[in-house]
Amino acid sequence: MDVGGKFGQSFVGRISAINLSTLEWAFGRHGDIVVALVGIVTGLMFVLLFVTQRKKLRLPQGPRSLPIIGNIHQLGNNAHTFLWKEAKKYGPIMYLRLGSEGLVVASSAEVALEFLKVQDKVWAGRESSTGMDMFTYNHLDIVGAPYGPYWLHLRKICTMELFTTKRLESFRPPRTDEFNQMIKSIMDDVEQGKIVDLAVKLGHVAMNNITRMLLNKRFYGLDASAQHQAYKFQELTSDLPNLATTRSMGDFVPWLKWVIIVSGLKSRMMKVKARADVLLQEFLEVKKNRKIINVKNDDVHYEDFVDVLMAQPAQDGTGHLSDNSIKAVILDMLVAGTDTVSITLEWAIAELLCHPHCAKELQAELDEVVGKDRIVTESDIPNLPYLNAVLKEVLRLYPPLPLNVTHVALEDTTVGGFDFVAGCLQVSVAQIFV
Ligand code: HEM
Repeated sequence: MDVGGKFGQSFVGRISAINLSTLEWAFGRHGDIVVALVGIVTGLMFVLLFVTQRKKLRLPQGPRSLPIIGNIHQLGNNAHTFLWKEAKKYGPIMYLRLGSEGLVVASSAEVALEFLKVQDKVWAGRESSTGMDMFTYNHLDIVGAPYGPYWLHLRKICTMELFTTKRLESFRPPRTDEFNQMIKSIMDDVEQGKIVDLAVKLGHVAMNNITRMLLNKRFYGLDASAQHQAYKFQELTSDLPNLATTRSMGDFVPWLKWVIIVSGLKSRMMKVKARADVLLQEFLEVKKNRKIINVKNDDVHYEDFVDVLMAQPAQDGTGHLSDNSIKAVILDMLVAGTDTVSITLEWAIAELLCHPHCAKELQAELDEVVGKDRIVTESDIPNLPYLNAVLKEVLRLYPPLPLNVTHVALEDTTVGGFDFVAGCLQVSVAQIFV
């Protein structure tokens, strides 16, 4: 059973699986009933301690849960909708159980602020699940790395090297090129009397924008460079985001971990991860080889995110970031930075079509600020307050990530008068308007 395929990009099963091979080894070696008894008594005492300790916890209310699986069966494929409906009954801070894990759900701005800002560092752990572990190269990415020196190192690279105004400005020509190509392809479809599939076009432009920034490559459109890789890439990105964010019952109930294997989920994940790894490694090798050639020919080449990442030191300040770290960051950006953008734009167009008076007002603003002789550019954006308001309203009405990344408590803590133990999962759910 897969739990909530797209589950707002993440849901967490922190796995505290018992290492069976260690237990078997211990019993096999001693063959002693005393050892077994000591083990059982210790285990019972531990369970008793755990139960009595939990009884003392003041936990928020939430929907009734079943033994063993908790509330997993209620989440479905649109977990955010279920959580939002339940939050209306139980209030802005609500508690559920996912197998052996506790999950606290924040559903008001004030409560979300407490978890994400006031107690940011306490709730800065990240989930562990089969998909998350596999597709993040065991938490070497930004989204999945828990708070600590490695995550801080990556964040520093992001703020000092990747997402600087200068760097983002350097990608303006490819962004403008992508935008112009999309407009041209819409006009071509219209001229030929074809139906314009805007969702597809926005998806392609979002993906091309990210891959040009990451790898200086485009994989969609007629003149996409590296066509031999384009098909492989397209095939990969259609499977990867869903699989990377899929959670199984076995992720939440340690002794049902075998479900992930028997259901075939793990092998599907492994196949896609292997394909992703081969393709991403190919990109890195080309860059490594080109660097050598460039040194010889004194040739200057375009600096993309991967070039920048390859030049960064490892966390301890020596050598370079590992290939796995770079591949994990690439996957992060592909998963986090494409659908979020294209879905927001698709909703914006849909809402403008449904509200012609807003479309008219927006058109009037564009005519006044940009005029009718040229296409709007990024430098116009600060002078277009109505456009900014439209986009903010779209993000409020249709947040592309209605559940944020799952956070995990790194230590025992109290929020709003309730107690949460280390390891408790936390998500914030946005108000659902549709
Ligand atoms: C409309 C566009 C977008 C929205 C609504 C959005 C929303 C979010 C949200 C809600 C989070 C989770 C924050 C948290 O709970 O800690 C997040 C994290 C993240 N996003 Fe985005 N995002 C968007 C675009 C992008 C783009 C274009 C990129 C990359 C180029 C990106 C990369 C990331 C990364 C790397 C993280 C993890 C940050 C961390 O853990 O420190 N996102 N985003």
